[in-house]
Amino acid sequence: MSRLAVYPGSFDPPTLGHLDVIERAASLFDKLIVAVGRNSSKKNLLTADQRIEAIRESVAHLPHVVVGAFEGLLIDYARSVDATAIVRGLRATSDFEYEFQMAMVNRRLNSEIETVFLMTKWEYSYLSSSIVREVATLGGDFSQMVPEAVVPFLREATQPANQAR
Ligand code: PNS
Repeated sequence: MSRLAVYPGSFDPPTLGHLDVIERAASLFDKLIVAVGRNSSKKNLLTADQRIEAIRESVAHLPHVVVGAFEGLLIDYARSVDATAIVRGLRATSDFEYEFQMAMVNRRLNSEIETVFLMTKWEYSYLSSSIVREVATLGGDFSQMVPEAVVPFLREATQPANQAR
């Protein structure tokens, strides 16, 4: 039986920590869908299409990884693609409370899909999309924080002319 996992997130922007989790998950499952949440209530720096394209380019070296998008409940999306597992990355204990809650809610909604947690590399444990957003919008160097393919998307989004969006 082929094992498919979904790795969901906002990925605004995708970071090296995200890519590290993707590579770890890709080695554990037959197929991995990186699923970008299209949550319209959030004010994002990158559009959903930019996030999807940025991830697609960042995972081009991983043949079993595809990029998708979802709206509504994650668990419904996971069921619709026949996933056996949802993958989430953990950095520090501070992530745990929210992740635990999310995993429990998802299990309550569908007990057949497991949530699997993967620890990121130590050197990425300080990284988060919100930190990268802040550095990028304030003009700092974010090039060591995101996959190479993400850099031009972030540069474009943080050009002064585009920042008022
Ligand atoms: O990268 P993020 O922002 O931590 O990702 C969070 C995400 C998008 C995975 C989460 O907010 C989500 O699953 N949203 C969909 C709505 C949903 O299913 N909610 C119930 C589970 S708490």
